[in-house]
Amino acid sequence: MSTETARKATNIVWHQGNVTRDDREKILGHKGCTLWFTGLSGSGKSTVAVAVEKALWERGVSSFILDGDNIRHGLNSNLGFSPADRTENIRRIGEVAKLFTEAGSVNLTAFISPYRDDRDKVRAIMQPGDFIEVLIDCPIEECEKRDVKGLYKKARAGEIPEFTGISAPYEAPNKPELTLRTAEKSVDECVVACLEYLESKGYIPAA
Ligand code: ADX
Repeated sequence: MSTETARKATNIVWHQGNVTRDDREKILGHKGCTLWFTGLSGSGKSTVAVAVEKALWERGVSSFILDGDNIRHGLNSNLGFSPADRTENIRRIGEVAKLFTEAGSVNLTAFISPYRDDRDKVRAIMQPGDFIEVLIDCPIEECEKRDVKGLYKKARAGEIPEFTGISAPYEAPNKPELTLRTAEKSVDECVVACLEYLESKGYIPAA
């Protein structure tokens, strides 16, 4: 266990509140969960998450996005892209996602989260059904062609070490709950797929 994950505090006692998760979900009118988007840089995680969040709000569903690039500006600003730092990035975000989920939000996370084991650990700390793994599946050639942030070009030029898909690994999930092929489907079609999944499994009421 790394120093970041080892619990240092002693003499800590869990304090129970009086408002249950059920109470929160009743007020909100839907269940809490986390749609965990995983995929290469430039695959469309943030784009789809932003569009899903808007569609959910339009239906009165409380939602919130945790985005890799954004979270790395604050909470995780002390982490880089080494394997250990990526693992810690995902561990922290997993804990935050769990809190949002228990608060009743349909939480959307957009992190490359390249390691299967790290994602499985997040699934394991959540209640069964709370963690919905969504593979944003896009061939690296297409991500590189898009190169929205110009990072693939830099990575190819050797200016960014340990770049996912080029000089660092990406481990796709074996059994994601959902797969969205963003090179073949429009953003709107991806949004529909997410909302249909949430409806069909009873997380949110039918439109
Ligand atoms: S993760 O691997 O730890 O899950 P995260 O999703 O937080 O990554 O951040 C990825 C984003 O950081 C990318 O979309 C890209 O904008 C930026 N980035 C900077 N350096 C790298 C790198 N070496 N590998 C991948 N992404 C990088």
